[in-house]
Amino acid sequence: KKDPNGPLYEIHNQAARLYNILLMSTELGKAARKYLLDRGISLDIIKRFNIGLAPDEEDFIYKNLSNKFDEEILANSGLFHFSNNKVFDAFSNRIMFPITNEYGHTIGFSGRKWQENDMAKAKYVNTSVTPIFDKSYELWNFDKAKPTISRNHEVYLMEGFMDVIAAYKAGVTNVVASMGTALTEKHVRRLKQIAKKFVLVYDGDSAGQNAIYKAMNLIGEASVQIVKVPEGLDPDEYYKSYGAGGLSRLMISGRIQPIEFLIEFLRPENLANLQVQLDFIEKIAPMIARIPSITAQDAYVRKLVEILPDFEYNQVERAVNLRRENM
Ligand code: CTP
Ligand code: MN
Ligand code: MN
Ligand code: MN
Ligand code: MN
Repeated sequence: KKDPNGPLYEIHNQAARLYNILLMSTELGKAARKYLLDRGISLDIIKRFNIGLAPDEEDFIYKNLSNKFDEEILANSGLFHFSNNKVFDAFSNRIMFPITNEYGHTIGFSGRKWQENDMAKAKYVNTSVTPIFDKSYELWNFDKAKPTISRNHEVYLMEGFMDVIAAYKAGVTNVVASMGTALTEKHVRRLKQIAKKFVLVYDGDSAGQNAIYKAMNLIGEASVQIVKVPEGLDPDEYYKSYGAGGLSRLMISGRIQPIEFLIEFLRPENLANLQVQLDFIEKIAPMIARIPSITAQDAYVRKLVEILPDFEYNQVERAVNLRRENM
């Protein structure tokens, strides 16, 4: 039976090819290639991820592909905007990251602004929901990462394209991007089919920390580890500062447990206040009590005590024990 989405895959395939040719073999592509090279994207990487360039034209893809596909395919592809009897490409003047589904079919794009003087507001523009693409379901790099995720029973989750590429350069391939911080139930369900452990490597900013907290609740603490990227950096920027060895070390040895993240993330401002300390103990004690290992519980009691000016080990331990008995 023929896949009814075949032509939609095909139009994306051809668009990706055109974008890639433009980047690789034209005068215009030279400047974009320099932008990418300055960001650490070599020709090998361009090839592997099929990166391209949408020119600063309003109908480059439409001109090239509209005569090869039915109206309906054009309309459903997400590659065009239709307004006042005119058709515009959805992407222009952007570095193009093709998005593939788990079988490797190109199903959408994300385009990054790359010229200094570009007044466009959004840094990235993404394909909207189409019959073959939904950002709340797809994960970037899933097709390429799948074998190593299955083999290791472990997946690294990052925010962006450049982050996943940095991980690849650091030799870590079981990595996908949620393309932003909006991880969904659908993403998690897909990944849980092949991964037991989720390692969250979100950006070292407040959006990233909030996203870790949300993701942890969605996935379940027991299946999560966290790599804290230093404040102000994302994995790609960390690679830039510390190199392949630095990033792979961070990803492999820099993991912390959810409880350690939570003690930091939920830590109130005014811990000098006695009542604030009591409330904080009330909040964290049950979380510590849920940790399976007694030795680990002990270690986190110590961590908590370290930041509480008015409490000692025995007092916090008692609070945890009480919670444990009530479980
Ligand atoms: N994103 C998006 N639309 C935006 C901004 C971000 O879809 N307007 C998505 C992109 O997939 C992006 C990810 O969210 O890769 C993370 O956003 P951000 O950290 O802001 O971008 P970076 O990935 O760091 O992009 P770059 O390094 O190219 O600046
Ligand atoms: Mn196995
Ligand atoms: Mn971010
Ligand atoms: Mn980022
Ligand atoms: Mn970045």
